[in-house]
Amino acid sequence: MAKTYYDASWEPSGPSLKTSEIPGPKAKAAISELNEVFDTRSLNMLTDYAKSSGNYIADPDGNVLLDVYAQIASIPLGYNNPTLRSAAQSDEMINGIINRPALGNFPPVDWAHMLKTGILKVAPKGLNQVFTAMAGSDANETAYKAAFMWRRQKERGGAHVEFTEEEMASSMKNQSPGASQSLSILSFKSAFHGRLFGSLSTTRSKPIHKLDIPAFDWPQATFPALRYPLEEHAEENAAAEKASLDEVEHLIKNYHIPPCAVVVEPIQSEGGDNHASPAFFRGLREVTQRHGVLLIVDEVQTGVGATGRFWAHEHWDLPSPPDMVTFSKKAQTAGYYFGNPELRPNKPYRQFNTWMGDPARAILFRAIINEIERLDLVSRTAQVGDYLFGKLEGLAKKYPGEFMNLRGKGMGTFIAFDSPRRDEFLKRAKQFGVNIGGSGQMAVRLRPMLIFQEHHADILVEAMEKIVTSWDK
Ligand SMILES: Cc1ncc(COP(=O)(O)O)c(C=O)c1O
Repeated sequence: MAKTYYDASWEPSGPSLKTSEIPGPKAKAAISELNEVFDTRSLNMLTDYAKSSGNYIADPDGNVLLDVYAQIASIPLGYNNPTLRSAAQSDEMINGIINRPALGNFPPVDWAHMLKTGILKVAPKGLNQVFTAMAGSDANETAYKAAFMWRRQKERGGAHVEFTEEEMASSMKNQSPGASQSLSILSFKSAFHGRLFGSLSTTRSKPIHKLDIPAFDWPQATFPALRYPLEEHAEENAAAEKASLDEVEHLIKNYHIPPCAVVVEPIQSEGGDNHASPAFFRGLREVTQRHGVLLIVDEVQTGVGATGRFWAHEHWDLPSPPDMVTFSKKAQTAGYYFGNPELRPNKPYRQFNTWMGDPARAILFRAIINEIERLDLVSRTAQVGDYLFGKLEGLAKKYPGEFMNLRGKGMGTFIAFDSPRRDEFLKRAKQFGVNIGGSGQMAVRLRPMLIFQEHHADILVEAMEKIVTSWDK
C-alpha cells in the first residue's frame, strides 16, 4: 500500500458531473456575459475557483473534474491548498501585496533572507544568483538581454571599458554598434519560449503566435524527432540527435548573425512534448562551451518537480551547469538563475524594470518549496509517474491506434502521447470527468499537480479508456 504523503481530506473523492455537457447552462450564461467585455475565444472552461480543491477543478454548474492540465502546468499543490491559504493570510504576505516594492530601487529589508530561504534554496546546482521577473516570457527575455550584454562586454574588453560615443548615439537610433544587430539567440524548431517581442523570436511552435509581429532574424536548429518505443529505435534516434548537434554547431559557426546563446527546453512542451536524451543535452553543453556560447535552459514548464527531479536538467548529469536557468509557472514567480558574476551587467539600470518580480509571489514560492520538501513531493511524483506510465503502457498496448508514441518514461508525471483525434479526445475528456490539455499538432499532454497520487492515476486512466471506446457511440 502506497504511503499517503499528504492529507487529501480537502478535495473530493472523485469527479462529479451535473450537466450533460460542459459548459452547462450557468456557465453558458456567464460566458456570454463575459464575452461582451472580454475575448472568450480561447476559453477552455469557466471556473469556480472558490469551489475547486486539490486536484479537482469546479465550474459554475457544479461539475467537478480531475484536473491534469492545472492552469497550463502552473498549479503546484492543488487548488485551495490549506497550507498555501494560510501562507496567503500571513502579515508578511499582506505586507508584500499591499506595499509592492520597486525591487531594483527599494528592496525590502529582508529580501536577501526571502531569496535565500525560498527561490535560491532550490537554485540549480552551480547557480547561486537570481534575477527575478514576472512571467516565463519575461524570464527568458531578461536572460537573453543578460547574454547580449555579457557578450558585448567581452568583445569590448571587459566590464571596466566604457561605451564609445558612437555606441551611445547609435543605440538611440536603434542602430549598430550601440543597439547590437550583430548577435542572435539560437533556438530550436517547435520550441516555445514565450510571446513578448524577444522571446517570441525564439518561439517556433505555431504561426498563430507569431503572425504580424516584427521578429529578429535569429537562427533555428532542428530538434531531434525521436521515434518510439525508444528501445526499438536507438540507432536512428542517436543519429537524429547527432545531426541536430551538428546543425547547432554549423549555425554557431556560420549563421550571418552569430548566436551568443542557445536556448532550449528540457522537453519541448507547447511544441508537442518532444524529448531528447541526456546525451543530447550533454552534447549541447559541450558544443556551446567549446564555442563560448551561453546555454540557457528554459525550465518554465519542466521545473519544480513534475519530471521527478526538482529541475528537469538534473536528469542529464551535466559536467558543468547551464549558464542560466529560467523558471516560472509552478514557481508562481519567475526569473533566471545564474552563477557567473559576469552575467550581471557592468552598470546599474541595464537590467531593470519597476517591479522586477514580486515579493508576495516569492513568499508563495517559499511556502510551495517548504511543502514540497515536507511531503517529499518530488520523489513522490517520480513514483506516481512510474505508476501512471505503466498503466498508460497497458492502454497503448490495448489501443495502439489511439495512444501513440507514449513518452516520458522515468520523467515523473510529465507524460504525453499522440492521439489521431486529439481535439475530440480533449473535448470528450470533460464528459468523463477529466480536464486534460494538448500541445503541438496531436499530443495529449499530462501535467498533473505534484499532489497527484495513484488513485488519481486510476481515475484518469479509466476515463481515458472510456473516451476511446466511446467514439462511435
Ligand atoms: C517552456 C516555456 N517557456 C516560456 C513560456 C512562457 O511563459 P509565460 O506564458 O508565463 O510568459 C512557456 C509558457 O507556456 C513555456 O512553456
